[in-house]
Amino acid sequence: MSELEALKTTTLTAIDAAADETSLEAVRVAALGKKGSISALLATLGKLSPDERKTQGAAINALKDSVTEALAARRAVLKQAALEAQLKREALDLTLPVRAPAVETGRIHPISQVTDEIVAIFADMGFAVAEGPDIESDDFNFTKLNFPPGHPAREMHDTFFLQPDDNGERKLLRTHTSPVQVRTMLSQKPPIRVICPGRTYRTDFDQTHTPMFHQVEGLVIDDRATLANLKWVLEEFCKAFFEVPKVNMRFRPSFFPFTSPSMEVDIQCRRSGGEIRFGEGEDWLEILGCGMVHENVLRNCGIDPEVYQGFAWGMGIDRVAMLKYGMPDLRDLFDADLRWINHYGFKPLDMPTLAGGLSG
Ligand code: DAH
Repeated sequence: MSELEALKTTTLTAIDAAADETSLEAVRVAALGKKGSISALLATLGKLSPDERKTQGAAINALKDSVTEALAARRAVLKQAALEAQLKREALDLTLPVRAPAVETGRIHPISQVTDEIVAIFADMGFAVAEGPDIESDDFNFTKLNFPPGHPAREMHDTFFLQPDDNGERKLLRTHTSPVQVRTMLSQKPPIRVICPGRTYRTDFDQTHTPMFHQVEGLVIDDRATLANLKWVLEEFCKAFFEVPKVNMRFRPSFFPFTSPSMEVDIQCRRSGGEIRFGEGEDWLEILGCGMVHENVLRNCGIDPEVYQGFAWGMGIDRVAMLKYGMPDLRDLFDADLRWINHYGFKPLDMPTLAGGLSG
């Protein structure tokens, strides 16, 4: 086999073996590039006699043409294969159902929704939101709120106590949001107008009690706040929250160590079937406790009861959520059952506002 034929065979074999366009390009450069094998042969022509140049030149050019042709053919095959692989990779099955984006499939838990609704209503009345820790001192949860050590009202709180720390202090999981009142009065000067939503804990578990639940506390302190103001605030709240033009409320005398006088508040409703309606009917439902802040509490928190007075209330968020949205069992709220949350949850982009509607 002549040198030219041997070169032709190896080059065409290399072209056939090139698996992609990069290796094909390497074969082209090795043959036809400036320093390629065929280019090198062409460079030898100058040294030949005119006759030899004629035959050799024609033979080398024929070799060059067949290599160029083979390169083009192989390139076309590789391009087509690459395109087919890409189409396969990016194949779309147009018959698949449309998948909703996460923001539309996710759901806001009713407790978050109701907390946002409550905050929206009180923010509109000029209240700020105050927060405190879930792990509290006995002092803030009880003593400063006028539950002296050994007072029987402490027993009613079914408290979770932590192990005593190195200083012998026994912390607890707050049994109500009222310690946030204490923290607010200790850190702010009147006039004070805050609500304090948050988690609370008691050792209790049945259809209407869970060991962790939610409350919202309200506190107003200034030099003139009265019981009449308290009643107005609560009535306006109930109308806005239950989205009815009028509510009937009943204020019953009660006892809390941190308020005097103390009251429990019921709202009138009618139950028919599984439904519950507010602002009408003959049933009463207890929704919160409230009263005028006890002068001992003011004093314990560094506020002069001769100058300042105020009112407070505490409401179970879970309870009003169940009432408003017809959820029968409190325990379902904390079961993390996807079917339940898909049914009772709220769309993330429907934010509760007074202008746009609370419940969407
Ligand atoms: N802390 C009370 C409880 O958990 C609720 C409460 C009642 C809070 C009256 C108040 C209030 O601020 O004035 O049972």
